[in-house]
Amino acid sequence: MGVSKVYCAVLAGGSGTRMKSPLPKQFMMLGNAPVFIHSIRTLLKDERIEQLWIGSNGDWLDLAKEQLEKYLGENERVRLCEGGADREGTFLKVMEGIKSENDISDDDIVLIHDAVRPFVNTRIIDDVINEMANCDACNTVVPVNDTISRVGADGIVIDIPNRAELFAGQSPQGFKINKLMNAFASLDENTRKILTDTTKVCLSQGMEVHTVKGEFYNFKITTPYDLEVATHVLAWIESIL
Ligand code: CTP
Repeated sequence: MGVSKVYCAVLAGGSGTRMKSPLPKQFMMLGNAPVFIHSIRTLLKDERIEQLWIGSNGDWLDLAKEQLEKYLGENERVRLCEGGADREGTFLKVMEGIKSENDISDDDIVLIHDAVRPFVNTRIIDDVINEMANCDACNTVVPVNDTISRVGADGIVIDIPNRAELFAGQSPQGFKINKLMNAFASLDENTRKILTDTTKVCLSQGMEVHTVKGEFYNFKITTPYDLEVATHVLAWIESIL
């Protein structure tokens, strides 16, 4: 098992309902650049990434293009395309783009990254790509610090799973492209919609999913609170670089 070519799918097709802003959060400013630009800059530092595709919400394609030109400039490895109705739908649209320009071999991998995780670092990206030499799917995870309760619709605790076995999923996630696309092809549309995470698609088809260590600061900007915290994290990261 090895890794041949590395592609990257940056998922920027969400509308950010929980942010309660008319402008999707990936296009909001964080420091001196829009949220999605931060992680794209970091991902592009890894020269192994052949092409980086961004799947954007169709209503915001023009803005995405404008911001990419303004904050990234010309980059021959970068492509922009329209996203889909949900996260996996956007990923599948990006894969159509990647496949339209490239012949994919069994050892080629794709890294999927949420556009709203601006603080991914080069160590995590490197670890995921390296781990993909040993597996077909890999997730970035951090341990959970809180005790997690499973609670029923009636508000009553059903179960408290062993915390040592619980981890929160982040991105990037890595996949062997052909294996993942076969897993998607074996699902009907309804099942696909229920499987909200790409690694769940793999698990549903019996694939083994490896993990690499993420960082607590590699969090997903979801709410206005997260964006406020992100401004402080950005200042902290810039102060230690
Ligand atoms: N995403 C996407 N295409 C969609 C929906 C989500 O590419 N149709 C992306 C988002 O842009 C984000 C990631 O998936 O980078 C995680 O999405 P999340 O923050 O959970 O969803 P949003 O739709 O952006 O926000 P909300 O759930 O609050 O509406």
